[in-house]
Amino acid sequence: MAMDFLALSESRYSVRGYQARPVPDELLDRVLESARLAPSAVNKQPWKFVVVRSEEAKNRLRTCYDREWFATAPAYIVVCGDHSTSWKRPADGKDHCDIDVAIATEHITLSAASLGLGTCWVCNFDAVACKAMLGLSDSWEPCVIIPIGFPATDSVPSKSRKDLSEIVSYI
Ligand SMILES: Cc1cc2nc3c(=O)[nH]c(=O)nc-3n(C[C@H](O)[C@H](O)[C@H](O)COP(=O)(O)O)c2cc1C
Repeated sequence: MAMDFLALSESRYSVRGYQARPVPDELLDRVLESARLAPSAVNKQPWKFVVVRSEEAKNRLRTCYDREWFATAPAYIVVCGDHSTSWKRPADGKDHCDIDVAIATEHITLSAASLGLGTCWVCNFDAVACKAMLGLSDSWEPCVIIPIGFPATDSVPSKSRKDLSEIVSYI
């Protein structure tokens, strides 16, 4: 039976340790398709998804975020946003690129979780080095790196969250 959305939300957590076995193409394709279907402001789709899975590219990407656990991932998806095509709100010029990219990224993490794959949002990386490594032109920003793979067998969720009563108001 399909996992309901609340159960899926509960099952996704930041996986910081992976098995070496590669992500099957069929699963990767499904994850990428779910990113493609994400909504974006004025449907601009100001994104691209770079799958990093050759040994050479993985080694270069790992220098942008030098953590032991990060290096265990068998593949990465770098979610890139294009500030030249993203929607800017006329009233105040607000650039919606980050919002669009975040939605697509969360589609990736939830879709991966539904397939038994682990992921972790990573933003604390060297974006300048990553941009150069990917050869991105000026308007493009590497916004998030998502390591993706089967969770290590000793990987455990640690989800702590504020109580609903602290964050919801009814007016
Ligand atoms: C925008 C964003 C950036 C993040 N960057 C990092 C990061 O650079 N490194 C890391 O280990 N985790 C990173 N995380 C993961 C968060 O620490 C994690 O989602 C949060 O602690 C909640 O835990 P959970 O994902 O297991 O539910 C990031 C999460 C988000 C949403």
